[in-house]
Amino acid sequence: MSSPTPPALSAETLAALRADFPILNQEIRPGVPLTYLDNGATSQKPAAVIDAMSHYYEHMNANVHRGVHAFAERATAAYEGARQKVADLIGAGDAQEIIYVRNTTEAINLVARTWGDATLHTGDVVISTEMEHHANIVPWQMMAERTGVTVKYIPITETGLLDMGEYRKLLAEGNVKLVAVAHVSNVLGTINPVKEIIKLAHEAGALALIDGAQSVPGMPVNVRDLDADFYAFSAHKMLGPTGIGVLYGKYDLLEKMPPYNGGGSMISKVTLTGTKYAHAPQKFEAGTPAIAEAVGLGAAVDYLTKIGLANVIEHEKALISYAMERLSEVIGLTTYGPSVEERSGLVSFTLKGVHAHDLAQGLDAAGVAVRAGHHCAMPLHDKLGVAATLRASFYVYNTMEEVDTLINAIESTRRYFA
Ligand SMILES: Cc1ncc(COP(=O)(O)O)c(C=O)c1O
Repeated sequence: MSSPTPPALSAETLAALRADFPILNQEIRPGVPLTYLDNGATSQKPAAVIDAMSHYYEHMNANVHRGVHAFAERATAAYEGARQKVADLIGAGDAQEIIYVRNTTEAINLVARTWGDATLHTGDVVISTEMEHHANIVPWQMMAERTGVTVKYIPITETGLLDMGEYRKLLAEGNVKLVAVAHVSNVLGTINPVKEIIKLAHEAGALALIDGAQSVPGMPVNVRDLDADFYAFSAHKMLGPTGIGVLYGKYDLLEKMPPYNGGGSMISKVTLTGTKYAHAPQKFEAGTPAIAEAVGLGAAVDYLTKIGLANVIEHEKALISYAMERLSEVIGLTTYGPSVEERSGLVSFTLKGVHAHDLAQGLDAAGVAVRAGHHCAMPLHDKLGVAATLRASFYVYNTMEEVDTLINAIESTRRYFA
């Protein structure tokens, strides 16, 4: 079968784009090129991001917000400039609403530890869902142990969508203070109707936190249009470096929240008897932050903005449509999650008679990098009735030919185990 052409990015554009990623142009073993389909775990980085970080270290390395010398001012400008880029990317009203954290996980823990611990009590309810990554389950369970709140979960339907009827029922049970939901599932690929979820949460008097780890990298997101109270994501899944992520929060909420870590940079005055805290976002950024990483994130935002996130999702949609079609031809293969219309560019599957880890090893022999396991979503795998799945996750630099490579590698592994 010959691969169709993806509509959003021409063959020339895609070839030029791939040339921007030094890591893609290599052989995993002699004669075996890399087919990187593990983007849901982390994306590769374009030279523009790597160069921006090297340039920072070579030309302006200094601590931010502290010195009055030229380098300190340049470093601070680069660090704060990146914050503005992130704010523009997600449609935040103000760069002050962007808090740098280490990753999505830390962003969610920050909300649980600060807003949650200060606001919630026994009898209050937090709603999450059955399809969440552990990052959007465990912090709420830990908070429940500290505060006495109850965590409830929206179930999923047979087709891997959130059961909105059940969600309404959970809201109607009352006392809901927070709804914490993934924008895009990292296992099912489901794009959840978060605008409606947030509206219903607000009508019930609850706040809404959206886990955007799998959405911001691949589709246009506007936090103000969604009316999200909190929105969390990681730079490393969107062409940026590891070690930095973002918590967006509405400014009035951030101002009311207690700080997270205590120390330098998060204060306006310290005496031996007490401390007055700085305003957001500094209040949540104690200590020397990940400066080069923020610069790298800013470069990643520039790169994605140049491509256009509407083009990224269209490209991913073309890849996933073709992948789903080809996967449906493989004997004994089961895919999980909704139709192409309701999913992003990733798919999880199992192959009858072959353990997910054996299948992943078979694919690795063909240079195809995928992820096998529970993808930090054990409750979801329990619900699906499987211990492990294999996940192929596509991104802007993947090609239709790489889908063919994936399918050929699955077929040869299947024949090997038959
Ligand atoms: C939906 C979702 N939420 C949260 C996370 C956690 O991201 P991080 O490990 O960058 O904190 C991931 C990572 O795979 C994810 O896919």
